[in-house]
Amino acid sequence: MSRDAAMVRLSERLESAHRVTVVTGAGVSAASGVPTFRGAGGLWRNYRAEDLATLAAFDRDPRLVWEWYAWRRELVRAARPNRAHEVLAAWSRRFPRFRLITQNVDGLHERAGTENVIRFHGSLWEVSCRDDCGRVPRRWPDERTFEDLPPRCSGCEGFLRPAVIWFGEPIDPEVLAAATEALDCDVCLAVGTSAVVYPAAGLVTGAGALGAFTAEINPESTPASGAVDAAIAGPAEAVLDELDRLLGPP
Ligand SMILES: NC(=O)c1ccc[n+]([C@@H]2O[C@H](COP(=O)([O-])OP(=O)(O)OC[C@H]3O[C@@H](n4cnc5c(N)ncnc54)[C@H](O)[C@@H]3O)[C@@H](O)[C@H]2O)c1
Ligand SMILES: [Zn+2]
Repeated sequence: MSRDAAMVRLSERLESAHRVTVVTGAGVSAASGVPTFRGAGGLWRNYRAEDLATLAAFDRDPRLVWEWYAWRRELVRAARPNRAHEVLAAWSRRFPRFRLITQNVDGLHERAGTENVIRFHGSLWEVSCRDDCGRVPRRWPDERTFEDLPPRCSGCEGFLRPAVIWFGEPIDPEVLAAATEALDCDVCLAVGTSAVVYPAAGLVTGAGALGAFTAEINPESTPASGAVDAAIAGPAEAVLDELDRLLGPP
C-alpha cells in the first residue's frame, strides 16, 4: 500500500471510530528535544540507558543514576510539547472513548492537556522510597531540583528513587490492567516507539488480535511494521498534523 493510501485508510477508520487507543514512545518527544534511548543523543556521559535504568545500577551507584535523572528532569523542564502532543491532546477530547498509553516518563502529554493518559513506565516527576519502607506513600509527585543527590526518604533515611519502571521491573498491576482494557478499541495507533521493550511492545498487536484496526507512525521500520494494518513512515509531529487535517473539524 502506498503512503497516501495508508493515510487515507487510517483517516477513514478514525472518522468512524468511537474508541481510539494510542500507544506512544520516545519518538513523540524527539521534536521537543528529548533524546530517544536508542537514537542519536541517547547516550549520557557515554553510558547507555540499559546500563543506568536498572535497580542494580542504582544500588551500585545511586548518585550516578540520580545525576542522570537530574539531567533529564532539567532537560524536560525546559522542553515544550510539540505538534504530536498537541494533536493527541485534541484527539483525547474529540473521540468519545480515547486512551493514551505512554512509555514516556517526561509528562509532555499531560502538559499538552491530554486526558486519560496511562503512564506505563511511571513518571520522571514522581519519587518513591527505594526500600518501600511503608512510612511514606508508595509514590508521590516531587518536581524539585534536588540539591543533594541522592535525596533521602523522610520515613526511613534510606534513598529515594525516581518512580519509573526500570528494565527488569514489573509494570504496576493496576496500570497493566488499565492498558489491557484499553486494547479493546476500534483503532489502535503506535507512535514513535521502537516496539522492542516488552510488555509495551505487545500492546498494538494485542489490540489487533481483539479486532482493532492497527497502525504505526515512525520514521523507521520496527518489528511491528509488518504486523499492523497501516504502517506510515514519517515523524510523529508531521504525520499526526497531516492526519488531523484529513479528519477536518470535530
Ligand atoms: N521521553 C521519554 O520519556 C523517554 C525518552 C527515552 C526513553 N524512554 C524510555 O525508553 C524505553 C524505550 O522505548 P521507546 O520505544 O519509547 O523508545 P526508543 O528510544 O526505543 O525508540 C524511539 C523510537 O522513536 C522513533 N522516532 C525517532 N524520532 C521520531 C519522530 N520524530 N517521530 C516518531 N518516531 C520517532 C525511532 O525510530 C524509534 O523507533 C521506554 O521504556 C521509555 O520509558 C522514555
Ligand atoms: Zn523509606
